[in-house]
Amino acid sequence: MAARAARSVPSSKEGHNGHGLPRRTEFPPWSASRSTRTAYGKIGGVTDQTGLVALDLPRWPNITDEDIAAAEDVLRSGVLNMRSSAVVRAFEAKFGGYHGGHKAVVVANGTAAIHLALIACDIGPGDEVIVPTHTFVGAAAPVLYAGATPVFADVDEVTHCVSVATVEPLITPQTRAVTVVHLNGYPVDIDPLLSILAPQGIVVIEDCAQALGSTSRGIPVGTFGRVSTFSFFEQKVITAGGEGGAVVTNDGALADRLDLLRQHAEASRTADDARFWSHELGYNYRLSPVQTAIVSSQFDRLGDLVRRQRRNAHLYAEVLRDETRLVLPVEPQAGQHSFWRYAVRVTREAGVPAGEIADRLQRRGIPSRLRYPFPVHVQPPFDDRSCLSMAERLSHELITLPVHATMDACHVERVAEAVIQVLDE
Ligand SMILES: Cc1ncc(COP(=O)(O)O)c(C=O)c1O
Repeated sequence: MAARAARSVPSSKEGHNGHGLPRRTEFPPWSASRSTRTAYGKIGGVTDQTGLVALDLPRWPNITDEDIAAAEDVLRSGVLNMRSSAVVRAFEAKFGGYHGGHKAVVVANGTAAIHLALIACDIGPGDEVIVPTHTFVGAAAPVLYAGATPVFADVDEVTHCVSVATVEPLITPQTRAVTVVHLNGYPVDIDPLLSILAPQGIVVIEDCAQALGSTSRGIPVGTFGRVSTFSFFEQKVITAGGEGGAVVTNDGALADRLDLLRQHAEASRTADDARFWSHELGYNYRLSPVQTAIVSSQFDRLGDLVRRQRRNAHLYAEVLRDETRLVLPVEPQAGQHSFWRYAVRVTREAGVPAGEIADRLQRRGIPSRLRYPFPVHVQPPFDDRSCLSMAERLSHELITLPVHATMDACHVERVAEAVIQVLDE
């Protein structure tokens, strides 16, 4: 005990390296016992008129001096268009290399990435695409953009993702693709899905917007489907300065088409003609070299960021594991969850709606909210009356707890304590 107390984590201000991230050597052990956890140090907070202390948690996203310098270098270079940018080409090689040597194509955002993936797979009017309803609307809207029909699938009670059981009954002769969202960072095992979908010629699109850094059987997610998509939105594990995305595929011809489609499908008309020609209807889904430089700089820290998210998740699990009023997220059997989000189910035993628990946490300065309060299929663009009972149940039972990489063990500790307090109120 004494040795652990001597390694206590400094307060959030003095313990950081100037970029909002704690220094590597200041990690406390993941599995601290209750008696040592008090040694982690104090956290700033503001007391309101009712005596409630609002915690002052570290912020997310985390932009470092290196990220800013990378953006500045591009600005000073004067090369600000994607087509002639070595920075874009270098990041695509790096990102594709991480994904098993596949081709990567950066785009404006994760929604655009899915739209282009659908178009590049020739999915359009008359085609059905199966998508989960328990997710962000950006996973489903591109199906409508492409003129295809979204068919909403329920999700598994444990993983909160689609499974063979939720997808198989929805397959019809019109089904052309299934979008598998690795929700919250949970790496869905794609093989069982592929074994029923591939023989029917149904394409798997992996939506990895929330799962960069997750692995399945030791391999990064995003390398199993025909094509996979990523988001570099502000809140994601890495960001391109607010917005950004990528598409990854091991099909060279598909990658070439994606490259064209993201810039109005405009390229030389023939091999010996330098004049540009729009080969098909394309889009302006370019990502700027400045944005690419930022996300490339952030990508170099991915391993560290995911390690911190996982450490924070494991610490919640350690502190809250005996709390019968909560169901905690699980690690997959054959994979590594990045825990981009830590989604906790509030059981009936709590005697209080999950939304009220989230509100009480917010009053304590803890960013917590229902996840996702409205299944996508019931929302106006889709207006689907299907009864997808698990997603509907999760919509009022699941809340998120902050787990982002700038949080130290002491922050997780205080949030976990607050969770128990608000359950007891
Ligand atoms: C699962 C999922 N799919 C798609 C998207 C769309 O990404 P973007 O916001 O970059 O367009 C998001 C973004 O949050 C997402 O979480």
